[in-house]
Amino acid sequence: MSSLAPADLLVDPSLIIDLDLRSPETMRKLKAILPRVSGACRLFLVDPLAPAAAANARALGATAVLPTSASVIDIHAAIATHFGIEQGDGAIGAAVRQSVQAGVDAMDGSFQALVEGKAFSMAGMDGASRQIADAIRGVGANEWLATVKSYHVGTYQHCMLVTGVASAFGIGSGMARRDVIKLTVAGLLHDIGKAAIPIEILDKPGALTDDELKVMRSHPVVGSTYLMEKSGIDSDILTSVRSHHELLDGKGYPDGLDAPQIDDLTRILTVCDVYAALIERRSYKPARSPAQAMIVMDAMASVGKLETSLVRELGRIMLAPRAAA
Ligand SMILES: [Fe+2]
Ligand SMILES: [Fe+2]
Repeated sequence: MSSLAPADLLVDPSLIIDLDLRSPETMRKLKAILPRVSGACRLFLVDPLAPAAAANARALGATAVLPTSASVIDIHAAIATHFGIEQGDGAIGAAVRQSVQAGVDAMDGSFQALVEGKAFSMAGMDGASRQIADAIRGVGANEWLATVKSYHVGTYQHCMLVTGVASAFGIGSGMARRDVIKLTVAGLLHDIGKAAIPIEILDKPGALTDDELKVMRSHPVVGSTYLMEKSGIDSDILTSVRSHHELLDGKGYPDGLDAPQIDDLTRILTVCDVYAALIERRSYKPARSPAQAMIVMDAMASVGKLETSLVRELGRIMLAPRAAA
């Protein structure tokens, strides 16, 4: 606060003020500064549990008052509304596209690092995951997933869809933000081992031969081994990368684990991975609708491959009119 000079505020016509408005000293300073900033969009972030703060924000001429938990999308929307900007594909669309691009860039960097045997860097992963979670919270999962489908194809599209579904699952089931971000990172990284699979197998339009299937099925071990050796990533993310193709009936791979050996993060990631694969269009199969995908997943749960409660929770979230927003 003491470092803010009125001249700084005059540069930008949009102010986002995130200060404790219950403090008389803060109020006194703002009352002195704000009158010198004419025509600005004044956006206040306030503690929703402190009604006095919202009242003080309005007294200071707030054009919008949002909770301190507001996402980047919420903030963009409030500014766009103030300036009468069309929001359909404006600020919100741009934020969604930026979040998708950030995810693809982070994933691209990690795939490249694996191919080159370089150390894995978390730089970009957390930031991208935060942007993705904010965007999904702002526009809903289905719109975010539609953006991914319209911009990217192949393995990156699949990984981004899993990422979006995982993030939506975390948000929609009320997880703490820290856990939502972890789940989103796990989505971005789950198929990192595919960076080592030859493209002719990865993108083969038809069924794989037994030998090709063996190569394809090496990706969880390749990916988790790389991360174990070249990164300091959390062990539960490592486990989920290795075990996201395990099934509760013991018939998954690479280790054929039984249900008690499969942890919660992995079970969630598996459900998100299966859902994403079902809603994807591939050269050998059409995309299923969310409702059709849930029918297939219910059937997999009923024969003991997927956890029923997680499938139900995912269905509740993804079939909602504005999924996970
Ligand atoms: Fe996979
Ligand atoms: Fe996958």
